[in-house]
Amino acid sequence: MLLKGKKIIIMGIRNKWSIAFGIAKSAYENGAELIFTYKGEECKDKIEQLVSEFKGSKIYLCDNASEDEDVKQTFEKIKQENGKVDGIVHAIAHANTEDLHNDFIMTSKEGYAHAVDVSSYSFVLATRVAKELDMLNEGASIVTLTYYGSTKVVENYNVMGVAKAALETSVRYLADNLGKDGIRVNAVSAGPIKTLSAKGIKDFNSILDVIEEKAPMRKNVTITQVGDVTTFLLSSMSEAITGQILYADNGYNIMGV
Ligand SMILES: NC(=O)c1ccc[n+]([C@@H]2O[C@H](COP(=O)([O-])OP(=O)(O)OC[C@H]3O[C@@H](n4cnc5c(N)ncnc54)[C@H](O)[C@@H]3O)[C@@H](O)[C@H]2O)c1
Repeated sequence: MLLKGKKIIIMGIRNKWSIAFGIAKSAYENGAELIFTYKGEECKDKIEQLVSEFKGSKIYLCDNASEDEDVKQTFEKIKQENGKVDGIVHAIAHANTEDLHNDFIMTSKEGYAHAVDVSSYSFVLATRVAKELDMLNEGASIVTLTYYGSTKVVENYNVMGVAKAALETSVRYLADNLGKDGIRVNAVSAGPIKTLSAKGIKDFNSILDVIEEKAPMRKNVTITQVGDVTTFLLSSMSEAITGQILYADNGYNIMGV
């Protein structure tokens, strides 16, 4: 029970394939009290149903996680109704479909800004708002989700790789800003998983095939495995770890030729 008595906000649950769902499962099994934020008012019933297995959990609409006002209103409500929290998981990203299909060189100004805004700035924003509202307990841990395409060229990952590079750099700067308050900031770099977001990447299945063939463990990761690594980072077991990108990818990132 690594997270017994801890309140954790999980941003970015969409369906039972979401990495956020795997994280919720692991955190719940480890004793956490869960607070979810989701996108799309019309999804309320679906999300409520989805998280009903996590007894006592609550859901809050945060329609656009890169809009300052949306995040502020959502977090204010969360604090009012739940008090301070012990962790935040940010599992949010988006890029325009054409930018995950065309050559990277074709990325438009708008598409570039959109990917970085939703996938990286939203993380800085959530962290800042939580800090400004004084809603983080000492020892709190903040975790985001990233991918190997930030540092290496992965075909069709394109502008999302740029956004993840910005996200990973943000992790380091935020870790430095918040360390003196006893708050840690890290990222889990998950191996590829077939989620709704991943389906937007052209030829995504071929990436999964390469992992099965080349990763040291010769298989792909599951959302529950990524969830367990995230639980570790949320827990006091990882007290000495901050500003890190922790790979949960069956070792694929260590491979050269
Ligand atoms: N699936 C993979 O292969 C993989 C690998 C490594 C990292 N990741 C990362 O994991 C995270 C979760 O993605 P996932 O694969 O579980 O897909 P997903 O589609 O289940 O989750 C993405 C979430 O982002 C939310 N979102 C998108 N735009 C938003 C906005 N403007 N405001 C608020 N929420 C918004 C969606 O509603 C959804 O809940 C993402 O950061 C993704 O880049 C995914």
